[in-house]
Amino acid sequence: MPESTKTATLTFDDKSIELPMYAPTVGPEVIDIRKLYAEGKVFTYDPGFTSTAACDSTITFIDGGKGELLHRGYPIDQLAEKSHYLEVCYLLLYGELPSATALEEFETTITRHTMLHEQMMNFFRGFRRDAHPMAVMTGVVGAMSAFYHDSTDIADPRQREIASHRLIAKMPTIAAMAYKYTIGQPFVYPRNDLDYSSNFLRMCFAVPAEDYEVNPILSRAMDRIFTLHADHEQNASTSTVRLASSSGANPFACIAAGIACLWGPAHGGANQACLEMLKEIGSVERIPEYIARAKDKDDPFRLMGFGHRVYKNFDPRAKVMKQSADEVLDLLGVENNPILQVAKELEKAALEDPYFADKKLFPNVDFYSGIILEAMGFPTSMFTPIFALSRTVGWISQWKEMISDPGMKIGRPRQLYCGETLRDYVDIEQR
Ligand code: SDX
Repeated sequence: MPESTKTATLTFDDKSIELPMYAPTVGPEVIDIRKLYAEGKVFTYDPGFTSTAACDSTITFIDGGKGELLHRGYPIDQLAEKSHYLEVCYLLLYGELPSATALEEFETTITRHTMLHEQMMNFFRGFRRDAHPMAVMTGVVGAMSAFYHDSTDIADPRQREIASHRLIAKMPTIAAMAYKYTIGQPFVYPRNDLDYSSNFLRMCFAVPAEDYEVNPILSRAMDRIFTLHADHEQNASTSTVRLASSSGANPFACIAAGIACLWGPAHGGANQACLEMLKEIGSVERIPEYIARAKDKDDPFRLMGFGHRVYKNFDPRAKVMKQSADEVLDLLGVENNPILQVAKELEKAALEDPYFADKKLFPNVDFYSGIILEAMGFPTSMFTPIFALSRTVGWISQWKEMISDPGMKIGRPRQLYCGETLRDYVDIEQR
């Protein structure tokens, strides 16, 4: 935590309160209001946390105005082009890019944790076959605390590290099993001779009846999607994981809470909602109708995959994703995919419309990801599970940063109470 270099003075009624300010390495300065209630008997009010820094962190920085995303200082476009997901996992977890030896050891560790406890197969079988894979993932990840007791003591750094490795390693296996279960196909076990993204593709698409060859270009595209979703500062699901962890809950329960939060269509569920929206639009001719609906205050419809709480410029991940979409669809010979044409025309029409320009609504990470995932053969119900799989390392890295802070306190916000004041109970005869 940086030293305070100056103060802010808050004056109201007959009070004048000096509040320390801290300067970041980059980004907005903060005003420390921790003593505000004790000295001023007032709360600040920020329901959507639009102006609130909930913690200090060294993991990810976002400049919404510039459309910049850094992981431990490295820009996302360079990581997407030059690195790969497990190396980015190492960077997020440990703070530096690994040496060749350290990377090999880390990848071997993760590979050796990809299998699930065999007893967990029964847990899957408790779900209906038409269960949404996100419901299955939320349940199965929460249940991991019942199977991996030896890595739930958050006070033990070694157990924290084992839990981190287990979660990163097992999420592809769990996501693939959730998919296989809902389509009535047998589970496919991970293989130690495949890299992380190839393993995931094989666990999703291989069947016992024939061999499955991973297409290296699809595997690279899959790995890039994992990398682009790995972490994103204090977004809603990461904040959920931090708040759940602040009570001392075990890491599996906290990650399950993050999965549950990510599922919402305003957050990680937007990739599924975006593709369903593009399909509903169906043709370039219908785009004006949907642009008008998105602008209509009386219509709850919003352009899925557009807008962002922080980015008031292009989401840098969307730029990389758009390039990847062109590559994958070209490879698959579906470059004239009608959905992709609708997406490109919709993006163009929206960006030319003053409503979106004035409100600084640009495509976000979810706008193109669904197009790639569908072209790769995933159903829309698997889009958010893939986001959850990718974001697990971000949740875990932020969890680890918070848990290892000796100054950590349980998160307990207050409120602006607008309800009834004290009143006596009224017997039913008098009501
Ligand atoms: C993710 O936080 C993260 O980092 C999240 C994420 C991550 O990696 O973790 O980046 C992943 O969640 C990306 C966002 C995916 N969600 C969607 O694509 C859903 C559609 N987008 C919106 O619901 C919305 O833009 C949000 C939720 C993303 C952001 O909402 P905010 O910041 O609360 O903004 P807002 O709702 O206050 O909107 C500001 C204005 C409003 O108009 P006014 O009331 O000012 O007149 O912009 C309008 C909104 O109506 N608006 C939109 C719009 N998004 C905002 N209008 C039409 N279509 C949209 N998509």
